[in-house]
Amino acid sequence: MDQIVSLCRRRGFVFPSSEIYGGLGSTYDYGHYGVLLKNNIKARWFEAMILERDDIVALDSAVILHPRVWEASGHVEGFTDPLVDCRTCKLRFRADKLEDSQCGRKPSKRPGEFKECDLTEPRQFNLMFQTTVGPVEDSGSRAYLRPETAQGIFINFKNVLQLARRRPPFGIAQVGKSFRNEITPGNFLFRVREFEQMEMEFFVPPADSERWYRYWIDERLGWYLRYGVRRSKLRVREHGPEERSHYSQGTSDIEYEYPIGWSELEGVANRGDFDLTRHTEFSGTKLEYVGPDGERYVPHVIEPAVSLERIIVAMLVDAYDEEVVGERERTVLRFHPEIAPVTAAILPLIAKDEGMVSKARGLYEELRKRHSVEYDDNGAIGRRYRRQDEIGTPWAFTVDEQTLSDDTVTVRDRDSLAQERLPVGGVRAWLDDALEREWKTPKGD
Ligand code: GAP
Repeated sequence: MDQIVSLCRRRGFVFPSSEIYGGLGSTYDYGHYGVLLKNNIKARWFEAMILERDDIVALDSAVILHPRVWEASGHVEGFTDPLVDCRTCKLRFRADKLEDSQCGRKPSKRPGEFKECDLTEPRQFNLMFQTTVGPVEDSGSRAYLRPETAQGIFINFKNVLQLARRRPPFGIAQVGKSFRNEITPGNFLFRVREFEQMEMEFFVPPADSERWYRYWIDERLGWYLRYGVRRSKLRVREHGPEERSHYSQGTSDIEYEYPIGWSELEGVANRGDFDLTRHTEFSGTKLEYVGPDGERYVPHVIEPAVSLERIIVAMLVDAYDEEVVGERERTVLRFHPEIAPVTAAILPLIAKDEGMVSKARGLYEELRKRHSVEYDDNGAIGRRYRRQDEIGTPWAFTVDEQTLSDDTVTVRDRDSLAQERLPVGGVRAWLDDALEREWKTPKGD
């Protein structure tokens, strides 16, 4: 994980937030390549969940919802973690995750050993961030930053049913920030207090819920494989009854083998009719489906839920590689071409050669209309290739002396390092084709 964090910093993917003020623990800012990476992951999710389907519509609900929403959902009462304090090192831990609680991680007198923490009794700590709405701060103005995007979907069920003229099975999907005051955030972006969730609530006839639950586990697993995540690093783990959330009739985690071990990447839950029933009860608005023949029922809900942050860490870890080529070491991010922040680099071999620069800039202007491409004339060509390898750019087009005589460029493949020559006029079509081809990670399955 340290290598990934350092690469992200060095290449401007992710920075620790508020750094000039000493930082704010476990919050991060995304730099240029981080934003491009994030946008690509979001776009691929949006395509698979909405654009390529007829049965799911999009939504973008507010971050601050009516406080009763969180009473109905069970978050005010139950969205808590057991918190313990250490009287010695003054740190706080989750009582159910005490493996970290060696007193402040400071060694005891004997080198390499840690003192045990002197822990208080556990007390429940609500993970929702509170705020107030309006100029007067009193109990009537209390509100929360949403800890999940899902509730914004449930409270819009009736709008979508009526206005988008849907009938089960259908889904509503949204992407947006969620906030949780985690007691022990950490492991880079894996557990943070502010993250971007991508959630979809799929409303189905009750009798079909088990079938759809299995369907969505397979679909979501297939999405990771489609974008090059290795099968051997993914697994599905079904929760036992004692582990499930209060609303769940069945939950499976799609886990990834992160450097911290197998951990939850995405959750797929069968939420039954819990949410629609509770919001009906608390709001007085009936949230049910009434069919053309008068049949009525409260749909059951299947929910695949994930954060961009967990996907980013999984994809970075999966793509990261170091190898020796010739005498030199290189670090490379072997991202899927549709995930990579930059699809192709355009490089004039000699930055001072006006002919090469003008050819390269012409190609760059043509390609940037449709693709995320980067023009780079800064430094020796070998260094420029290595820079592109480190940000995961799949192809580099180099304009050299031969270009000036026969109007061809070389294309260098990030993974195989193979180079071939192409006519400049054919580069755009070549790139379109390359993006259509099936891509397999050279790291194997
Ligand atoms: N609506 C259901 C729900 O929010 P969850 O298991 O609490 O369920 C869903 O969260 C997903 O959100 C997780 O699988 C994970 O990908 C992501 N997630 C949850 N807490 C997170 C955190 N503190 N930092 C980053 N991602 C988080």
